[in-house]
Amino acid sequence: MKIKLIIILFVLIIKIINCLKNEYDGDYKITNKLNDHLINNNQEEDSVKIWVTFNSKKKENFSNIEEFSKNNGLKKESIERRINRCHDKNKILDDSDIIINQNFINQVLNCGSENTIKLIQKSNWLNSISISLLNEHSNKLIDCIKSLEFVETVDLVSKFKKKTTTTTTTTTTTSKTSGSSNDECEDSNKFEKEINNFIEKKLLDLKNKLYTTSSSSSSDSLLNEIPDKFYGYSNNGLKQVKIDKLHDMGYDGYGIKILITDTGFRKSHEVFKHMKIIGEHNFLKNTNNTQEDFDPFVQDVNEQQTGHGTFTLSTLGGYKPGILIGAAYNASFLLAETENATNDFPLEEDNWIAAIEWGENNGAQLVSSSLGYENWYVYPNKNGYFSKISRVATMAANKGMVVVMGVGNSGDLGIGIPADAEFTISVGAIDSTGERTEFSSIGPTADGRIKPEVMALGLGNFVAHNFNDTSYDRFDGTSFSCPLVASGIALIMQAHPNWSSKQIYEAVISSASNSKSPDYLIGYGIFNALKAFEYNPTNSPDCTINGKGCTNSNGKCNLQSKQCECEQPFYGQFCQYNRIPCGQRCLFLNSTCEIPSNNYNLSFICVEPNIGDFSNQSSKSNYCFYLILFKIILFLILI
Ligand SMILES: *[C@@H]1O[C@H](CO)[C@@H](O)[C@H](O)[C@H]1NC(C)=O
Ligand SMILES: *[C@@H]1O[C@H](CO)[C@@H](O)[C@H](O)[C@H]1NC(C)=O
Ligand SMILES: *[C@@H]1O[C@H](CO)[C@@H](O)[C@H](O)[C@H]1NC(C)=O
Ligand SMILES: *[C@@H]1O[C@H](CO)[C@@H](O)[C@H](O)[C@H]1NC(C)=O
Ligand SMILES: *[C@@H]1O[C@H](CO)[C@@H](O)[C@H](O)[C@H]1NC(C)=O
Ligand SMILES: *[C@@H]1O[C@H](CO)[C@@H](O)[C@H](O)[C@H]1NC(C)=O
Ligand SMILES: *[C@@H]1O[C@H](CO)[C@@H](O)[C@H](O)[C@H]1NC(C)=O
Ligand SMILES: *[C@@H]1O[C@H](CO)[C@@H](O)[C@H](O)[C@H]1NC(C)=O
Ligand SMILES: *[C@@H]1O[C@H](CO)[C@@H](O)[C@H](O)[C@H]1NC(C)=O
Repeated sequence: MKIKLIIILFVLIIKIINCLKNEYDGDYKITNKLNDHLINNNQEEDSVKIWVTFNSKKKENFSNIEEFSKNNGLKKESIERRINRCHDKNKILDDSDIIINQNFINQVLNCGSENTIKLIQKSNWLNSISISLLNEHSNKLIDCIKSLEFVETVDLVSKFKKKTTTTTTTTTTTSKTSGSSNDECEDSNKFEKEINNFIEKKLLDLKNKLYTTSSSSSSDSLLNEIPDKFYGYSNNGLKQVKIDKLHDMGYDGYGIKILITDTGFRKSHEVFKHMKIIGEHNFLKNTNNTQEDFDPFVQDVNEQQTGHGTFTLSTLGGYKPGILIGAAYNASFLLAETENATNDFPLEEDNWIAAIEWGENNGAQLVSSSLGYENWYVYPNKNGYFSKISRVATMAANKGMVVVMGVGNSGDLGIGIPADAEFTISVGAIDSTGERTEFSSIGPTADGRIKPEVMALGLGNFVAHNFNDTSYDRFDGTSFSCPLVASGIALIMQAHPNWSSKQIYEAVISSASNSKSPDYLIGYGIFNALKAFEYNPTNSPDCTINGKGCTNSNGKCNLQSKQCECEQPFYGQFCQYNRIPCGQRCLFLNSTCEIPSNNYNLSFICVEPNIGDFSNQSSKSNYCFYLILFKIILFLILI
């Protein structure tokens, strides 16, 4: 009898040790995405790239800006912009600005050697680093990393392999791609994989991460455009959105710092002779040169490392009167090379995130980003916070930057990421008559917010070509609608030096052609630079004073936090925006429309069953721990 009792006690103790071990091993810190990757790891690649997120930062005193800046490497250019452009002047600094604890980084790197772990990017905003692990050691290294007490989560850096064989693109990109199924997304949750395969087979044009398509086919009337004396062949696109009116008033972007994230750039092109480039960084090679030369052996212009960046930069700020004008030609530019255009190179999100933080710290007031990641994520993930990259885009907006992005070229398939980010301006494509192009991605976000925000020319746009220093061409895509709108916004920012980033957002969408009845096809309508300039935005982040209160009682003003609490389905600073009910796009991938908890009969949020960031290991092991503890106590009481 006694021996039996001792055996039972022994077994229970072993169990509780196992339970605790699970907890201490930190298995619960590993995301499903990474877990699946490790299980299915076929060691095909030499390395695996992961995010390590830390759970704490130093405490800092936010009221002493100077001291804070010194401690955390914040430049005065950034502080200046925040003072002018942050919407809430009481929140110029926050925890995300505190630099990552170097000690944490060192300890993670100490889990391996120089040969097995490499630091790739640091993100203060996410309190995370991306590191590359030698694949053959990855399990051991991750075991070490996850056991560090200050590590909060370990995640896979999402990456996406482009197709090696490209199909010829046409002006409408919802074309099918056939091809080997080896090109699937690396995110390898099985369910996700299935969906990705499904998407790939059925619908997706894999080339649209850079939101360009190839040369415009002959149909568009722009091909017969007679060049304007000043605007040259950029005439129609600029006049369509009334940017010429701001030029007439003398605005040319002077004093505005614009960040562009793209492939490399042909800086030597004649349209860039005048350009004030105040900083540049190559995030692929970690150098400060973003010039890339034309590669005569690369046929497809989408694969030219210097192609796409040259096109979009010329749309933003090229200057060759009589041929091409980019509206913000007198602005200052920060060039970030974040994308490898080579087809067999996987695209990775950490470079873009690092570029945004770099540009922000160098005082950029505006970022133009004509790229996105369409099949890393399924539709329910496009809710503005699921992906790290979208979260960072919104953080930039909160720090006073205006974030302008292409909405994507996937038509009915919907928007890319990070175009789903809140308070960022996603731009769709129209033709020269003002009609939406078929390829322009449609909204809304998975939580029903309107996307795209506005529209501008994206068919037959005239751009500088990377072939030589005097070559030009026409291309289609929201890649060009984006810098066109961004360049107009630069003029508005020049005209209104103290408008916050959110006031600019408000002015841009409230003055566009469809602002009275926004929808998921063209959002708030065609951008109108003149009307946005003339708009009178609300001037307080505080709903208790002036301002608009919480518009039309769509929400209640919380007197303590001074923020609006919106009723469903409204959202926004003043609850002024109305969500679009969850629909077809959600159901079509077997996701479900969730009914918000407050009993409204419409549903707005598209959620995906069974896909969370984490498996429930944390609570499982807690549960296990308490259950066994309970058994032991019971056992001890009974004997
Ligand atoms: C923070 O800094 C301000 C201004 O320098 C100072 O008055 C305040 O006492 C500091 N607070 C703390 C908690 O150190
Ligand atoms: C780029 O780096 C080189 C050498 O590292 C340095 O001489 C140069 O000043 C840097 N240029 C810029 C614009 O930072
Ligand atoms: C840029 O603006 C400055 C200041 O207004 C002016 O002197 C200069 O001529 C402008 N540059 C161009 C190319 O128009
Ligand atoms: C892009 O990736 C390819 C293949 O890995 C590599 O050869 C090339 O140098 C990369 N380009 C840049 C700009 O990093
Ligand atoms: C540049 O390329 C264009 C074709 O795109 C060609 O017509 C032109 O002659 C080239 N110019 C030089 C200087 O090579
Ligand atoms: C911007 O500055 C002008 C004049 O200095 C002032 O009248 C206006 O209220 C300011 N606007 C905001 C949004 O702060
Ligand atoms: C959606 O559900 C249906 C029926 O349950 C199933 O046949 C189909 O394969 C599912 N589609 C996806 C993409 O999982
Ligand atoms: C809920 O449904 C009722 C009746 O169908 C309708 O009158 C009401 O407007 C709906 N409420 C919302 C918020 O859509
Ligand atoms: C995790 O488990 C807890 C309790 O067992 C449950 O309430 C929660 O919904 C679970 N979370 C997920 C993502 O499954």
